[in-house]
Amino acid sequence: MSQKLNLPVRPRRNRKSAAVRGLVRETTLSPSDLIYPLFIHEDAEDVAIESMPGCHRWSLKGLVEEVGRAHEVGVRAVVFFPKIEDSLKTPHGEECFNPDGLVPRAIKAVKAVYPDIAVITDVALDPYNSDGHDGIVQSDESGELRILNDETVAILCRQALCHAEAGADIVSPSDMMDGRIGAIREALDEGNFEEVGILSYAVKYASAYYGPFRGALDSAPKAGDKKTYQMDPANSREALREADLDISEGADMVMVKPAGPYLDVISFVRDSVDVPVAAYQVSGEYLMIKSAAKDGWLDEEKVAMESLLGIKRAGADMILTYFAKDVAARLS
Ligand code: PBG
Repeated sequence: MSQKLNLPVRPRRNRKSAAVRGLVRETTLSPSDLIYPLFIHEDAEDVAIESMPGCHRWSLKGLVEEVGRAHEVGVRAVVFFPKIEDSLKTPHGEECFNPDGLVPRAIKAVKAVYPDIAVITDVALDPYNSDGHDGIVQSDESGELRILNDETVAILCRQALCHAEAGADIVSPSDMMDGRIGAIREALDEGNFEEVGILSYAVKYASAYYGPFRGALDSAPKAGDKKTYQMDPANSREALREADLDISEGADMVMVKPAGPYLDVISFVRDSVDVPVAAYQVSGEYLMIKSAAKDGWLDEEKVAMESLLGIKRAGADMILTYFAKDVAARLS
């Protein structure tokens, strides 16, 4: 009896060899898709971050060297996150627009050596604010916290302008205040920085996956949570509302964050807007892969690559990932 099935259609033919698989591959990752987030601090030493194995808080010297290593393997975009000394933290976070602050000096240091790197900066108050919130906190007698929207936006404009003056290519508001994109665009234009772009964290969820990041920067909220400004993980229609608003206010690119648990949102936003879409594979997503790989339970290289490919396949044009340098090295 013949075992042969009568099968004119056999999808496996398109998978028969590496060469054929290469021909039919729909999604590819390239180092130029990646944005490398880097932590910086005021110390002269580079310090390994316990909550994020493989990541460091870089000194300015260490930062420039690490950007150089990333540059060598094809990474061309970085974003900085500062750990600010407690003595500089205030309720209004004024240190965020100090022209001699850590971030402006980091921008200048990197741009001086690698002018072809796109330097992106995070615009939000949480590293600078003594309350650990992205905006200014007002608490009333009942102890209820209010995050003041419009007062915060005024400070974010000064922060964005300060980054632009130092040479940032793109500012990236991660604070989720209403109306900040329009206000920042106007402030940049008035300051003659019409060439500085805005990558808006338009769709940022109130996510527990940010835990390791807040540990890295010591920036966790002192009280309350971020649910009155970051989005409810249960919602996706709201994602489009946020993205549309930010684009109408002048965002050049919009971001969905986190990435892996929100692939449906990335796909939905990609189909609905006509600006580039970024996705942020956040600290918790990174740490899950790292910790499983540490005990040999997962193959870190392969899982990291697959996780990023999935994010790209869902529709992200660019990905912020702590794996950027390692993955780029394997791709190049
Ligand atoms: C702060 C900010 C956060 C992240 C990026 N910018 C934390 C937060 O909103 O609490 C998280 C990044 C990560 O978890 O990797 N505005």
